[in-house]
Amino acid sequence: PERLKVALLGCGSVGGGVLQLLLSQPELFHVGPVLVRKPPKHNDNVVFTQSLDEALAGDPDILVELVGGTELAAEAIHSALSHGAQVVTANKAALAKHWDSLHAAASRHGGSLRFSAAVGGGAPIIETLRRLDGNVVSVEGVMNGTCNYLLSRLAEGWNFDDALAKAQELGFAEADPTADVDGHDAADKLAVLAREAFGVPLQPRLIAKHSLRDLVPEAALEALQFGEVLKQVGVCRLLPDGSVEAEVQVVALPASHPLAGARDEENRFLVTDAEGNVHEVFGKGAGRWPTATAVFADVMDAQRALLGRQPVARDKAVKLRA
Ligand code: HSE
Repeated sequence: PERLKVALLGCGSVGGGVLQLLLSQPELFHVGPVLVRKPPKHNDNVVFTQSLDEALAGDPDILVELVGGTELAAEAIHSALSHGAQVVTANKAALAKHWDSLHAAASRHGGSLRFSAAVGGGAPIIETLRRLDGNVVSVEGVMNGTCNYLLSRLAEGWNFDDALAKAQELGFAEADPTADVDGHDAADKLAVLAREAFGVPLQPRLIAKHSLRDLVPEAALEALQFGEVLKQVGVCRLLPDGSVEAEVQVVALPASHPLAGARDEENRFLVTDAEGNVHEVFGKGAGRWPTATAVFADVMDAQRALLGRQPVARDKAVKLRA
């Protein structure tokens, strides 16, 4: 098949993983200059740049946006969509803030926006909501791997700062880990989930949030003595008037609760449909490979969409009749 031009923005924990996956398929992808904050060590197979214009030059077929933040990311996604590119992002904050304009740009220019890694990482929560196709009344879940890792370590007697430093070292935390600890990352994810589940906009800054910093240091250990497990849980629920209530809480769950078993960076979701069935979606929610693999799956979908659109060459067309 034809090689597609890929622009990659961001080469951190997830971006570095995606870059390796792209480079492992040289017959499918040509990777343009990769946008980075600081030029990394030399790599023979890749050019790095600190210029967004250079990274986006040459009309890429696919843009993979993994820089984080909202404004530069949204600007880059807009620019690529307006050139008809396929866009893949894991950026829940940019999606939550600019959902309408990004989706409008995608439909106006015939491009597409894929973001299955933005919520759940390797846990297919977006895919599950799409399959349920609007027949959902609530979604709740452990949706921040950093907080879950932290709470797991606190329950083993670690101190908060050591546990957070380890979560950062393992590549789970956002560039600014207060986004994880204070519930902003989970609120951004709830806003994306509410769009997918209910088609309703939520403003992440208006979602009530508990911060892990407000826990007393012994809280996780004390919960264990009562057979409970502390979890950060995001909830969004459709109300009878068509509005949605949402919250990010830190709660003590009985050890037998399905969300209580989420280990380390795992994410778990419980989706309740209109018939009262509960769908459980579990998977690794943060970290290089679970997230990079989900991003790359979107890249492969984009690749198939682009090549599927092209007419089949005459000499390769299957003969249906003699
Ligand atoms: N910082 C996020 C988390 C990364 O810890 O869940 C995955 O979205």
